[in-house]
Amino acid sequence: MDAFRIVGGHPLSGTVAASGAKNSALPIMAASILADGPVTLEGVPELIDVDMLSRVLYRLGVHVARGRDSRLRLETVDGRCTTAPHRWVRRMRASFCVLGPLLARRGLAVVSLPGGCRIGDRPIDLHLKGLRALGADLRIDRGYVIAKANRLRGSHVDMLGPSGSTVTGTANVLSAATLAEGRTTITGAALEPEIADLGRFLIAMGARISGLGTSTLEIEGVDRLQGVIHRIIPDRIEAATLLLATAIAGGKTTVTGVQPAHLSSVLEVLQRLGMDLWIGADYVTVERNRPLAPAQFIARPYPGIPTDVQAQMTAVLTLAHGESSVCDQVFPQRFEHLAELRRLGAAVQREGAAARVTGVMHLTGAEVTASDLRASAALVLAGLAARGETVVHRIEHLDRGYERLEQKLTQLGARIQRIREGRERTQPKLRLAASA
Ligand code: EPZ
Repeated sequence: MDAFRIVGGHPLSGTVAASGAKNSALPIMAASILADGPVTLEGVPELIDVDMLSRVLYRLGVHVARGRDSRLRLETVDGRCTTAPHRWVRRMRASFCVLGPLLARRGLAVVSLPGGCRIGDRPIDLHLKGLRALGADLRIDRGYVIAKANRLRGSHVDMLGPSGSTVTGTANVLSAATLAEGRTTITGAALEPEIADLGRFLIAMGARISGLGTSTLEIEGVDRLQGVIHRIIPDRIEAATLLLATAIAGGKTTVTGVQPAHLSSVLEVLQRLGMDLWIGADYVTVERNRPLAPAQFIARPYPGIPTDVQAQMTAVLTLAHGESSVCDQVFPQRFEHLAELRRLGAAVQREGAAARVTGVMHLTGAEVTASDLRASAALVLAGLAARGETVVHRIEHLDRGYERLEQKLTQLGARIQRIREGRERTQPKLRLAASA
């Protein structure tokens, strides 16, 4: 297990490039099962989650090879295996995205139910409802979803649930519908840009899809899909995390290789916090010239403030001058990071569905432990601002979704280094900051 040792108090400066989007790469990798030929993806970040899904695909007879410059080449070499085993799916929920493509392409899919995780309940009822609507004979048996269909049939599928739509549920049904017989209408489709990216990938393969970017998708099924080359969109969550790092640490930085339109709700909050912004065609520059203002916000499905930046924004608000409050409509329990932020001196506590944040004058370095991907990012951001040294343990959670984050932050002037924990049997000694 690794940790990050961070010496806080250093404003950031300079330019850094965003990587490709994890949450676009994963469903697109799964959808490569649908192709009759090789698929080359460009802009695929080097992440633990990408590696884990590659293993699942390998088990399913899809050969996955990493090329130069963030390229990934995928080709089905053996279409006989139809089981995605528990030991992989339980470790990475997004593996469940193989269900729709496997069912549509091979007529049978046996996929382990995905595990829960620390951000809250992660049901799959909408995935199953959607595939049943396409004619799948689907049941759950001893922890596996067993889905069969000689050929799926186009239908009307509504993907709306109590918390809005489902991103990976939409991905599963959209992918499956491309090879169904006849027309499928998906209403209540997720609006996240990663779904539109998946749709463009499927269209490039020969799928007939209209309505991308809206909540109603029309799909005319085809008999086969071909291999293609496709570039993954930039990671809007990573870009938001990097911009928020400057909000909490101070300074002026530019994040390049982004699609600002995917960041609108985040940029609006940065302005409310008092940050100065310059927005270009494929970059955003952010500068802190005044104390952070408090803010109230609710994380919502796209185009609202993403739940995946809620923890990072909460960390920034710990240093705002006043009272803030944060709710998460998508994952109401996604507040694992609060206890660890309190170890750094933050004044944060749950109040019903909300987290109440009272700004403090400064945070103080301490040892903290990451619990999930975005909570660990929040702790790294807090460490950038805290006085003295912070050690963030268990950053394997971070490595699941951020490509070379410590290099990127170092490039911006942060004092951060990776520590190999466990193997040397030594815990990093936390050098307490000299008294301020
Ligand atoms: C995707 O997860 C992302 N993961 C998550 O990012 C992200 O937090 C989430 O969408 C919301 O934006 C990937 O894309 C790989 P959902 P997903 O199904 O698809 C309810 C990260 O940090 N729901 O959109 O699994 C569910 O309870 C990860 O990168 C049902 O009720 O999330 C939740 O309240 C974490 N029934 C809401 O919908 C279902 O069948 C949204 O969940 C499915 C979901």
